[in-house]
Amino acid sequence: PELLDPDKEHTLVLIKPDAYERGLTGEILRRIEVKGYRLKGLKVKKASRELLTAHYVEHKDQPFFPALLDYMSSGPLVAVVVEGDRVIEGFRTMMGQTNPTLAAPGTIRGDLGRDWKTPAVQNVVHGSDSPTSADREIALWFPELVFKD
Ligand code: TYD
Ligand code: MG
Repeated sequence: PELLDPDKEHTLVLIKPDAYERGLTGEILRRIEVKGYRLKGLKVKKASRELLTAHYVEHKDQPFFPALLDYMSSGPLVAVVVEGDRVIEGFRTMMGQTNPTLAAPGTIRGDLGRDWKTPAVQNVVHGSDSPTSADREIALWFPELVFKD
C-alpha cells in the first residue's frame, strides 16, 4: 500500500463496535468526507485485547479499563486513517465530549451517542488527541502505512 505523506497531518479514527453494529459507519464517514478530509486507510476488524491494551495504555490503571476492553472487543469496529489540515484537533471538535449525554448537538457523539453507562461509556467514535498519540495509534493499527527506519 501507499505510505502516508509525512508532510500531511493524520489522525486515527475508530468507529466503535456499538456504532458499527447500529449501521452508523456510512454516516460517520460521510461527515468526515464532506468536511474535506481524506480517507487514507480503512479496515473492518475485530480488535484483540492485546491491541486494545496497547491503544488505551494511558488508561490501563483506570477502574473503567476492563469494561472498556470488553466493549471495544465486543464486535467488529472500523479503523480509519484520516488526512487533512489540522485534522487531529478538527476531528476532536467534530466528535464532541466523551460523555454523549453532554456532547453538543451537531457533534458525532452529541447526535449519535445515546448512553453514558457505567462501567464503560459507549460513545460511538475515537479520535487521536495529539500528534504524538496519532503517530503512535496509526503505527499500531496501520503498520503497513507507516515507514519504519
Ligand atoms: P478518554 O481518552 O478520556 O476519552 P476520549 O475518547 O474522549 O478521548 O477515554 C477513553 C475512552 O474510555 C472513552 O472514549 C470511553 C472510556 N471511558 C469510560 O468508559 N469511562 C470514563 O469515565 C472515561 C473517562 C472514559
Ligand atoms: Mg482519549
